[in-house]
Amino acid sequence: MPKLYIETVGCQMNVLDSELVVAALRKEGYELTRVVADADTVLFNTCSVREHAEEKIYSALGRLKNAKQANPDKVIGVIGCMAQNHQRTVFERAPYVDLVVGPGQLHQVPELIRKVQQGAGQQLEVSLGRKDGSKQDITRSHESFDPLRDPTMRPTPFQAYVRIQIGCDKFCTYCIVPSVRGPEQSRSPEHILAEARQLASEGCKEITLLGQTVNSYKYKEGERTTRFSDLLYSLHEIDGLTRIKFVTNYPKDMTDDVLAAVRDLPKCSKYLHVPAQSGSDAQLKAMRRGYTVAEYREMLARTYEWIPKVAVTSDFIVGFSGETDEDFQMSMDLVREARFKNSFIFKYSERPGTKGAQLLPDDVPDEVKRERNNEMLALQNEISEADNQRFLGDRVQVLVEGPSKTAAKKEAELGVEHPVVQLTGRTMCDRIVVFEGNRRQIGETIDIGIYDANAHTLFGTVVTQHVGPELVSLT
Ligand code: 5AD
Ligand code: SF4
Repeated sequence: MPKLYIETVGCQMNVLDSELVVAALRKEGYELTRVVADADTVLFNTCSVREHAEEKIYSALGRLKNAKQANPDKVIGVIGCMAQNHQRTVFERAPYVDLVVGPGQLHQVPELIRKVQQGAGQQLEVSLGRKDGSKQDITRSHESFDPLRDPTMRPTPFQAYVRIQIGCDKFCTYCIVPSVRGPEQSRSPEHILAEARQLASEGCKEITLLGQTVNSYKYKEGERTTRFSDLLYSLHEIDGLTRIKFVTNYPKDMTDDVLAAVRDLPKCSKYLHVPAQSGSDAQLKAMRRGYTVAEYREMLARTYEWIPKVAVTSDFIVGFSGETDEDFQMSMDLVREARFKNSFIFKYSERPGTKGAQLLPDDVPDEVKRERNNEMLALQNEISEADNQRFLGDRVQVLVEGPSKTAAKKEAELGVEHPVVQLTGRTMCDRIVVFEGNRRQIGETIDIGIYDANAHTLFGTVVTQHVGPELVSLT
């Protein structure tokens, strides 16, 4: 059997794309290996959001040069966003790469591997650029494929990603996504519901809906328009599903109907990732985010008012073009005030091909970017820790995902599996909980009493019985 090694970096979209590529290749008889040296085909599913992610792939490719020389039959492929972004440059920088396939062309991967093996030479398949044709042609060239699933590639057998939208039309000036993932397209509700039903029938309990601006989802068919909130209500009806999550939200489209759905639907995770990117109006304007800080604050206040126990997370970019100390302090003020459960903080990385790279100088020194990044991270960590401390003594419901990272590593080293193991899972508001439990509990939703917390994790014990007023724990 031919062996496939696949490495995935980047967002959940990429994780899902890899799942689909693996499923397609399994149909062709491939099996997965974790060892690059054993692989007949090596694929890197890549990300272009920051330069660092791309450079890491070139380093990884560099390490394969000798292996390819020793075994010229090994097929090496770069797929996903960097393939679309760099196209032939990948072949120029790593001439021993055999295929470069963009995210809109992944269904062709098995065929392209076959062509390489038949001696057809290097294969390049990418979608049209955003200015390289009619809107219809560009859109069609980005159509992704979601028919095949490979449960073994999912985060766990009872969790799955479901794509409801591809591409993005927001064109924030720093962002490469609209170029590499193409025009925003919402998938038909029928297809989404059919896929979710299929997943539920296979034992999947939690689905995470994916879209670059997931809450902007809208599907028009004749007279009928399905909004994102309508989709949530329909998905909620599916038996077997117990949790519905979705990422990433666009602040301006956090409308009352979406908030009401999250509040009223018990299966909807009370967790919203709504990136602010900055707390300064000048920066938001330069980023062309389409909202002011006051509008973001209003959205946040409304969210907390409608869903009091909601956990909100955000992304911030520090050191974007022209960011002054005052601008940065305004972002710090927003972090301080907003009490995000967590924030992902990024140093601005100029991306060739974006409006930012064309029109705005990358003028904040790297050292300053680093300092601001660390400062904001320290503040957010303080807030996250205080926020998690509120759970001490509480009982939370956790969907058990599997052994914790530490436990999994230890097991791999020792080559043994004990029934009682350190497990990890998530609450309905996406907080990570670590506790000692039984492997049988994986995939179950169980009650955990929380006794400790840091910025990123809650620690607890399994609540097995309720005797009188006290919680009794058997672990
Ligand atoms: N530089 C740094 N961060 C970026 N992001 C997107 N583009 C860039 C860039 N050029 C961040 C944004 C986005 C997250 C996925 O990545 O914060 O929300
Ligand atoms: Fe990029 Fe902005 Fe689209 Fe998000 S909304 S993917 S940041 S262009």
